[in-house]
Formats: sequence, structure tokens, C-alpha cells
Amino acid sequence: MSENGLFISFEGIDGAGKSTHVGQLAQAFRAAGRQVTLTREPGGTPLAEQLRTLILSEPMDPLTEALLIFAARRDHLQGVIIPALTRGDVVLCDRFTDATFAYQGHGRGFDLTVLSALEHWVQAAGGGGLLQPALTLWFDLPASVAAQRLAGARLPDKFESQPQAFFEQVAAGYAARMRADPGRFVRINAHQDVTAVWEEVQAAVRSKAYLP
Ligand code: TYD
Repeated sequence: MSENGLFISFEGIDGAGKSTHVGQLAQAFRAAGRQVTLTREPGGTPLAEQLRTLILSEPMDPLTEALLIFAARRDHLQGVIIPALTRGDVVLCDRFTDATFAYQGHGRGFDLTVLSALEHWVQAAGGGGLLQPALTLWFDLPASVAAQRLAGARLPDKFESQPQAFFEQVAAGYAARMRADPGRFVRINAHQDVTAVWEEVQAAVRSKAYLP
């Protein structure tokens, strides 16, 4: 019997520590007998990974940035996410559109109505609906703590080198997205040790009955 595809995204400011848990959750789903597609944004296809390199390194005006991010997302949806969901995979995506609203919208101050229009073009699903994750795990961490975690880590990219105030706005952006779609989001308290965070991640996924 083929299973239904399941789309889960992972979000949070840089330094929130989500990436470890993406891998662990992939293992948990595989142990439960599911096929897993592990992917990320911007990126996930050869074209989108090339766009990622540009987006994360080149200075550009905010509309150009938003268009490139949504172009990468379109290619990723068509080439990876939709085929995987059609096969019945669990798709675990390190960041998706909430990051665009949080970083480009709230962080950079770009027009949210334009982002919303792009979201509708790129993620249009049948019947006027939007293709969105079934579950979004938002790793919430104070921007001051994230800044300490990132200090001294590898060379920062374009966004990681932003000041703390930028990440406070990004975090407010995630909070706003969660308020707008509370059924899709689970907030994970990322200001704990990694074992406690993992417990919360598993509890969130089990609460939706996605894992036994
Ligand atoms: P991230 O996912 O944190 O990857 P890594 O762990 O390799 O640093 O980095 C991606 C960066 O891209 C992050 O700073 C957030 C940014 N970003 C946006 O600004 N908008 C978006 O829509 C997405 C998906 C990411």
C-alpha cells in the first residue's frame, strides 16, 4: 500500500540549531519504514543550488533577491518536492517560504504583499489553494543567544553577518507567520540542550500522528 506524502519544514533564525534535528528526524522516519527526501532552501536542485550561491553571497536589491529565492523555490518544487510527495515520501526541508517572509519581509523590510503574490504564483495548488508544509517546526531562540552561538563559528554568509536587530525582526516575522497559520506551526523552544530540543521535536511530530 503506498503511503501519503508528508511535507515538513524547519525554520528559525541562524544559530537556532535546526539542522541537527532535520537529520535525526530523517533517521526516525526511516526507522519507521518511510522513504525520506531530505532537502533545503534556497537550493535542493542543481539550478536552485546555483541560485543559492548567488543569493547568499552577492549584494542585490530586495526585489531581485525575492525573485531569485522564489525562482529557486519553483525549480525545487517542480524537480524535487512535488515528485517526492507524489511518490509518498516524507519530505524534510531545511527552510521554506516562511524564511522568505521572515528574512526578506521582516528582516529586510520588503513588501509582504509582493511576497504573498509570489507565494501564490509559485506554490499554487489545485482549487486556489497553496502547496505548504503540513507541519512547520519553528526553532525559536532569542537573537542574543543565537549571536553568541554564531560568534567564532565559520565565516558568516550575507545573512549571518547581519546585526542582532536584524534577527530580532526575523524572529518577529516567524512569530507573525505562526499567528497567521497556527495549525501548521509548532514552536520548539531551542533555548535548551540538544536532547531536550530533540524531545520537543519528536513530541511535535507524534502529536500530529506522523510518527508512532
Ligand atoms: P541556512 O539554512 O541557515 O543554511 P546553513 O546552515 O548552511 O547556513 O542558510 C540559509 C540562509 O538563507 C539563512 O541565512 C536564511 C537565508 N534565507 C533567506 O533569507 N530567505 C529564504 O527564503 C531562505 C529559504 C533562506
